[in-house]
Formats: sequence, C-alpha cells, structure tokens
Amino acid sequence: MRKVCVVGVGSTAYGKNKESNREMLTRASLDALEDAGVDPKEVDGAFFGNAFAVTERQGHIGPLVMSALGIPDAPSTTVEAACASAGAAFREAWVNVASGLHDVFLAGGTEKVSTIDTLTATGYFAYGSDYVFEGGNGCSFPGLYAAMATAHMHEHGTTSEDLAEIAVKNHKHAVDNPKAHLQKAVTVEDVLGSMEVASPLHFYDCCPFSDGATAVVLCSEEVAKKLTDTPVYVQGAGRAGSVAALHDRESFTSIPATKRAAAEALKMAGKTVQDIDLFEVHDCFTIAEAIATEDLGLFKPGTGAKQAREGVTYRDGKVPVNPSGGLKAKGHPVGATGTGQIVEAVLQLRGEAGKRQVDGAETVLTHNVGATGGSCAVHIFGRSVA
Ligand SMILES: CC(C)(COP(=O)(O)OP(=O)(O)OC[C@H]1O[C@@H](n2cnc3c(N)ncnc32)[C@H](O)[C@@H]1OP(=O)(O)O)[C@@H](O)C(=O)NCCC(=O)NCCS
Repeated sequence: MRKVCVVGVGSTAYGKNKESNREMLTRASLDALEDAGVDPKEVDGAFFGNAFAVTERQGHIGPLVMSALGIPDAPSTTVEAACASAGAAFREAWVNVASGLHDVFLAGGTEKVSTIDTLTATGYFAYGSDYVFEGGNGCSFPGLYAAMATAHMHEHGTTSEDLAEIAVKNHKHAVDNPKAHLQKAVTVEDVLGSMEVASPLHFYDCCPFSDGATAVVLCSEEVAKKLTDTPVYVQGAGRAGSVAALHDRESFTSIPATKRAAAEALKMAGKTVQDIDLFEVHDCFTIAEAIATEDLGLFKPGTGAKQAREGVTYRDGKVPVNPSGGLKAKGHPVGATGTGQIVEAVLQLRGEAGKRQVDGAETVLTHNVGATGGSCAVHIFGRSVA
C-alpha cells in the first residue's frame, strides 16, 4: 500500500442551512480543493456519505456534485453506513489511492434534515436500526442509546451527573468552534433539568439534528509533496462491523466494531492508543462518548463516564476528547459527520484550529459509528509518515 495524505479540507457551518445537499456538498468540495491547491480536473473520483436522501427526494448525489465541479465524467459513489457514512466513504477513497489505482480522490458527505420535523427525522433515522426488531417496534436511536446508558449505570454505577459532565464539556468546546451547531455553554443543572427524551437520557445528552456538508482531498504522498511542505498523513485506517441489533449482542456497554476498527488502524500506524494526542469520537449521545473511550482502550471499562468530571477529557486535559464540540454540540449532519471529524483532525495537526487548538498535537484519532455500532470507521492522522 502507498502512503496517503490529506491535503485539503472544507466544511459548511453545521446547523440549519437553506442550501440543498448538492449545494452544500459542492461548496465544501470546492473549499477543500481550493485549500489543497488542486484543480477539479485532477480529481480521479469521489466517495460521498449521505444517509437520508429521502428528506429531499434526491438520491445519487455524487454526479450532481461532480457536474457542479465541472468533472461530470469522474466516477462518484454514494456511501450509506448510517451515521458512519462519511467515515466509510473516506476509507473507500483511501483504498483507491493507497492501492495505487488512483492519485487524487475526494471524500465527503452531506445531510439535510431541517426540512422535516423532529418526529419525522426520528422515524427516518430509525431506518438505520434493525428495523424489523428495533425501529419498527418504536425503538428510536435515543431509545437504543438510553438502553446502553441504563446498562452502563447498572453494571458500573454510572450516574446521570457523570453523563451530564460530558455534555457540559462538549458544549464548552463548541463555544470556540465557529462552525458548530450549538455554540452555547450549559451547566450540569441545565442538563439534569432538561426534559427526558428517553430515560435516562435528557435533552442535553442528545446530539441535535443538523444540516451540513464536509469534504477532504486525499492524494498519494508523491502528489502531496508537490502541493505542500506540511501534508497530513493517513497513518492508519480501520473498518469493522458488529451485529446490527443491540439485543443480539453480548453486551450493551461495548461496541465490538470500535475495538476491531481501532485495532486495525493502530496496527497499521504502528502505534498504541497512548501515542495519540487527541480524539474526535462519535458522541451522538453522552453515553456514546463514555463507551467509545472505553472501547478504544483509553480508559478501563466502566470508567469512561467519569473522565469529563475529572477534567481529563477537556481540551487542556491529559486526554483531549472532542475539542471540536463533538456530535453533541458541534452537531451531527449524519452523512457528513465522519469527514467532518477528519476536517477537525487536519486543522488540529496543521495548528489551524484557532481557540480550540490542542497544543503540540502530532497525532489524531477519529472514530465514526453507524447506528449503535453496526458500522465503525477509525482513522489515525499524523504530521509525519507514522
Ligand atoms: C433532543 C431532541 C429530541 C430535541 O428536539 P426538539 O425538542 O424538537 O428541539 P427543536 O429542534 O425544536 O429545537 C429547539 C431548540 O433546542 C436546540 N436543540 C435541538 N436539539 C438540541 C440538542 N440535542 N441539544 C441542545 N440543544 C438542542 C435547537 O437548536 C433549538 O434552539 P433555538 O430555539 O435556539 O433555535 C432532538 O434533537 C433529538 O432527537 N436528537 C437526537 C438525534 C438523533 O437521534 N441522531 C442520531 C444519533 S444515532
């Protein structure tokens, strides 16, 4: 496999956006190409995440974007892996470049949900569960993650206050992110006093429904060296799956796909998780961040939910987790989230993350989960080859 670099990044602001998926994703792609100094005509193809084309009745988003970029002949593929769609799209683009088949690829994603109300969005999102057993019987994603939170509380003594501390941290981080959906600090009291969405999860334990698009330009090391003196290397790429239905898993408090995808990415990078300087993990609900940090091996099983309370996972803590604000507060435009995490990783590694910069960041891990863990993509990025 060849070494692959990320040389350009682009992202719309997250939140409500008047533009369509095709407009948002074209804008993010153009920004990424301009950032890379790459002419669209040099792009060999693209993989784009988009999970809920039904909201606009417009699937097959790739050719629309490629046409708008002036390269309708270049191949594009829409990748659907629920909330991990863009992480999975990035992995496919990486395979195309690492294998030597192509030199320059776009990866990105888009989601547009502000056209529908919360009830309709919750119903559509449940299509990403095992619909026969879960969504079809009224089990929404807040409900499924609430079951995981209940199990974590039962097994490990985790409390609602512990989870609230994670929301407080990620909201605080998002205040410094001009592209975040929710640039608003909250307190533990705000979280615990907010309405219960699915017990024990409160309103502020949940990510919002966001619009947004993100894109990155990948290329071979050879091409990257012609474009920049400071390329960001893809040091490791891991993908894995788990049994789709939560009730068919051995445990509600661990996602096997996270462990397997992380092991693959770390092995490729020749690193342990302790070598990583900061983490952008999939915190669609506060409990998801706790479980992710345990499955990644950052903290012992059962202790992930205690770390924000102790200050460990704050931007200036020992193990910074979600300095962008995470899905919780930066927002979660499902089909765009995975490459959005990668945009943050690249900005951090280039020292361009502004007020949310983690000092001395040399290595970043991104972790993107589809549904309750049926899909997972983990990538490791660094300022050096490995
Ligand atoms: C939590 C939730 C139920 C709130 O929905 P809602 O009550 O209909 O909220 P609204 O969309 O009417 O928004 C009301 C306000 O709260 C804010 N808001 C919405 N969701 C929020 C959230 N999760 N956290 C903090 N603020 C939120 C909105 O920005 C809006 O603020 P404004 O009045 O200043 O504009 C909804 O966001 C939700 O279901 N989230 C989970 C999404 C999900 O399951 N994603 C898939 C994960 S696997």
